[in-house]
Amino acid sequence: MHVVRFVGALALSLAFIPGAGAQGLVNPATEKRIDALLAQMTLEEKVGQLNQYSSAFDVTGPAPSAGAQKVMYDQVRQGLVGSVLNVTGAEATRKMQQLAVENSRLKIPMIFGLDVIHGYRTMFPTPLGETASWDMGALEQSARIAATEAAAAGLHWTFGPMMDVSWDARWGRIMEGAGEDPYLGAQAAVARVRGFQGRDLGALDTIAACAKHYAGYGFSEAGRDYNTVDLSEQRLRNVVLPPFKAAAEAGVATFMNSFNEIAGIPSTGNPHLQRDILKGEWGFPGFVVSDWGSIGEMVPHGYAESLEHASRIAITAGSDMDMESRGYVAHLAALVKAGQVDVTLVDDAVRRVLRVKFALGLFDDPYRYSDVAREKQALASPAHAAAARDVARKSIVLLKNDGGLLPLDKGAKTIAVIGPLAADKDAPLGNWRAQAIAGSAVSLLEGIQAAVPSTTRVVHAEGVKLVTGPRNFMARSVINTTDRSGIPAAVEAARSADVVVLAVGEDAFQSGEGRSQVDIGFKGLQEELIKAVLEANKRVVLVLMTGRPLTLGWTADSVPVIVEAWHGGSQAGHAIADVLFGDTNPSGKLPVAFPRHVGQLPMTYAHKNTGRPGPEPGVTWSAYTDMSNDPLYPFGYGLSYTTFTYSEPRVSAAQIGRDGSVQVSTTVTNAGQRAGVEVVQLYVRDLVGSLTRPVKELKGFQKVDLQPGQSREVTFTLRASDLAFYTAAGKWEAEPGAFKVFVGGNSRDVKETGLTLK
Ligand code: BGC
Repeated sequence: MHVVRFVGALALSLAFIPGAGAQGLVNPATEKRIDALLAQMTLEEKVGQLNQYSSAFDVTGPAPSAGAQKVMYDQVRQGLVGSVLNVTGAEATRKMQQLAVENSRLKIPMIFGLDVIHGYRTMFPTPLGETASWDMGALEQSARIAATEAAAAGLHWTFGPMMDVSWDARWGRIMEGAGEDPYLGAQAAVARVRGFQGRDLGALDTIAACAKHYAGYGFSEAGRDYNTVDLSEQRLRNVVLPPFKAAAEAGVATFMNSFNEIAGIPSTGNPHLQRDILKGEWGFPGFVVSDWGSIGEMVPHGYAESLEHASRIAITAGSDMDMESRGYVAHLAALVKAGQVDVTLVDDAVRRVLRVKFALGLFDDPYRYSDVAREKQALASPAHAAAARDVARKSIVLLKNDGGLLPLDKGAKTIAVIGPLAADKDAPLGNWRAQAIAGSAVSLLEGIQAAVPSTTRVVHAEGVKLVTGPRNFMARSVINTTDRSGIPAAVEAARSADVVVLAVGEDAFQSGEGRSQVDIGFKGLQEELIKAVLEANKRVVLVLMTGRPLTLGWTADSVPVIVEAWHGGSQAGHAIADVLFGDTNPSGKLPVAFPRHVGQLPMTYAHKNTGRPGPEPGVTWSAYTDMSNDPLYPFGYGLSYTTFTYSEPRVSAAQIGRDGSVQVSTTVTNAGQRAGVEVVQLYVRDLVGSLTRPVKELKGFQKVDLQPGQSREVTFTLRASDLAFYTAAGKWEAEPGAFKVFVGGNSRDVKETGLTLK
């Protein structure tokens, strides 16, 4: 295997100037200014640049005490803090910046970071949901708006996008990513990086992005958060890294490493990931921040004896900034003085941090992002709300529509809006909600009320509560399992109505960090409510609001209509109503499968064939004896109010050379009565490889808009390089041989052709 060893990061990253995608992060003039600054800095001041503290708000690890906050302020004044996270607002950030710039010797501005994951004040759908739009323009726009709001509130940096591929919906953080597929994940990563960073990091409405969590965090054993990961190099390269590599190529300014180990080495201390691959092979010129406390966590991992030891391991492995372990600030200078850490490692890390600060324009004006007037205007923008509604309706996935119950008739006499999430104005905001105001979302009930004429009666009944007790990032949701008192009223409402809209799923804080579950079915009394309502009225439209896929069990077979609306953000209720009443024809497609049963997890459409794919008489084969191998709803799946047909796919040539390409086309026809949008998907299968290859891999997609009866030829260019993978020889290349080529509207229902790579 070819591995670029760490030979001095400075030389490597400078050598990379011509290709450095990180928009102006590396240029000779800045490097000179950094040289001059480094020459003036004491060792302690250098280490300070690598030290990041959290302000008290919304901490994800143990909260810093009042004493710790005082230490932080003292160190900020001394120039010993390079960055603060969780300080927000134009005024607060200005004051915090003043402490550093007016008191410290070298007046180096700090960089302020926050988890701006799917919006800052205006919430867009949670990232997994938003990816269901398969609309990269929409993803870019949502990140753009989040950046505009955050930058006006004094922030310079978001800890996003999260791009951990995951095949396991037990893992609560699956809601933060782009789902199960590395290709879709890479497209989403690039769109989001572009959205956050814009064309120019120095512009006042852009912020630095952060590719996280590097790497393998989505493959934690048994879907349990922070758990062990053991990945082969081939899975790492072929499945986990593509979004990260794409983000690096798109110029993402920073990376965050991950809490997990891979094959016994915590990512924070992993030189192969951070030095060889990221800073070596990819020539990444920005900096790597640790995850919260992940340097210190190498002690309980059993990889470091002490925080001092962990700090030495981390800086050597390429972790540039210490988020809240307080290890670098305590030990790094002494480690350098004792000859245990080479000062060039510290210099290189500081250089990387300073590059980002220069690119953000903080040395020209450290307060430029902290603008109270701009903040006020940006946070109240009606255009942002309109965009959130638009992205939310594009993200909605129609999973089932038996009997064509949808779209609903606005002229219905009575609509019953039932369920624990029906009138909930908080759950749609989702987890990782930055500065959203609790309870500020448009509820489904409000959305429906706003959509219908005054002649339509809308009745509401909660039925059952989903959670009781506090609802926030730190609190574990307490599920209601006893209070059924609202069910009779819900049944009554259902009975009196022409149609029932029943909203169930997850509270905002049931998915997200630290929210792994062994059971991803309906929690609490929701299934009881569904049964009772269905007995009273068969015309039920089930609206799911979830962070992740759920196992729907009995409900999937029994309820005629199912709509996945995710945690749809600030405008969720309006967006769902747009779809339910047919003002928007749904076009979302699942970025991750809905399993039939939790026991199928982890699962992906891009699995290997195995030696016993079956079914075959006379042998046992790789299948469950008590359930199908297949998911309930596969990757890429989603219905529309119209239907689309596909012609047999055509290839422009049956053979291509090593540098060649081929056109793959199919004619897609809107065979129904309504205009609609279809996500046309291209998959391939490499039949024989030096390493076994998946049965299908997504290689392209296009969204097409078709009027009733209209046909369109959809053409993909498939290059030989698109067939490349990380081979047994440790190279990223395409291997000659036969390939199947598929097109279709999801990963299961496809039409097939083939080609040969010479
Ligand atoms: C999470 C990161 C997040 C950080 C800062 C950690 O617990 O894993 O994704 O960016 O906290 O809030």
